[in-house]
Amino acid sequence: MSKKILCVVGARPNLMKIAPVITALKAGRTPFDICLVHTGQHYDSAMNDQFFAVLGIPKPDINLDVGSASHAVQTAEIMRRFEPVLQQENPDAVLVVGDVNSTIACALVATKMGIKVIHVEAGLRSYDRGMPEEVNRVLTDQISDILFTTERDAAENLRREGIAGERVHFVGNVMIDTLKNQLPHATPVRETLRLAGISEAFLRGDKGYGILTLHRPSNVDDPNTLRLLLNTVVEISESMPIIFPVHPRTRTRIESNGLLASITSENIALLPPQGYLEMLGLMKDARVALTDSGGIQEETTALGVPCITLRHNTERPITVSEGTNTITGTDPEKIRNAVVDLLRTGGKAGKSPEFWDGNAAQRIAAILHNWLGNSEQRHVA
Ligand code: UD1
Repeated sequence: MSKKILCVVGARPNLMKIAPVITALKAGRTPFDICLVHTGQHYDSAMNDQFFAVLGIPKPDINLDVGSASHAVQTAEIMRRFEPVLQQENPDAVLVVGDVNSTIACALVATKMGIKVIHVEAGLRSYDRGMPEEVNRVLTDQISDILFTTERDAAENLRREGIAGERVHFVGNVMIDTLKNQLPHATPVRETLRLAGISEAFLRGDKGYGILTLHRPSNVDDPNTLRLLLNTVVEISESMPIIFPVHPRTRTRIESNGLLASITSENIALLPPQGYLEMLGLMKDARVALTDSGGIQEETTALGVPCITLRHNTERPITVSEGTNTITGTDPEKIRNAVVDLLRTGGKAGKSPEFWDGNAAQRIAAILHNWLGNSEQRHVA
């Protein structure tokens, strides 16, 4: 009989990770029985619904509808609502991805009920415990039974934390599986701008454009940091137009701190949160990405587009050592210098890291068939 894996998603970045994993788990002669649970951490259509259709993710079997709240309330509410689901579904394992609150909440409930936990994208460390995701990563890895990593260094991080090597498997990056699948369908930049009502004139000139995203609490929740970052972006936009899809958290902070007027400029296109194919199109043709997102650091490395990371550290060091990423922190001078350097030299070329080849989810499925003993496929490598 097929083994049952209950997969969890909660927030936008989980969706591009789960899509290829579900496809791979459902493929082959002995597909796993999959139950998909959405915690409802992200619920806006722009942050959620449209990704399902585009990425071919099945409709969730269960939605916990938790919505936004403080970290404690959100995490607790997911746990409270997830426990009866596990009692009812009785899966052989629970699979969680990434590092959001839904990841740790569901992993914790499962392990306390004696259900095996699978963590996809394990072992990444920024070594900055002030970052909510870092706490989620460390704790999820501790209680996971099988851990899939995206880069080789992650295994060393896990070893230092006492996690046995046989639980850890280097499989590559499932988010890059999705990127490779969807790249031919990316929405052209001009189409995205047209839909947002931005005039053709915006992209005139030979400088190309920069794409900006900001949503980390450390960047957007403190009004002074946010003001400084936005002023720096306005300066940069004088030498290269900037396209800025604004995350809901960031929009709220910009508006409540009266900063909207300061970035209203003909060189900055403010867009609502974008769908996956639109974002892919915006990144693919950009001269540079300025971001505090973890996913965009990886996606730009895979696309060969230079990335300037507006954080003091990264949990994805391979994007710096092998990819196109430069860490500047939030110091305006460092950011400006990185942009000047990039406009002069074209920026870091980088190369695609090992196993970021579009086949990570298939490696995961093969290992899980062996591990869970899913009948006929026991001997898949
Ligand atoms: C969460 C993740 C972060 C991930 C990010 C991607 C945690 C700790 N953080 O951060 O790792 O990079 O998702 O977006 O899990 N909101 C809406 N509509 C939505 C969702 C959120 O308006 O659909 C607003 C609400 O005001 C909410 C705020 O955004 O309070 C923050 O949402 P939340 O899910 O708490 O965190 P993110 O900042 O999105």
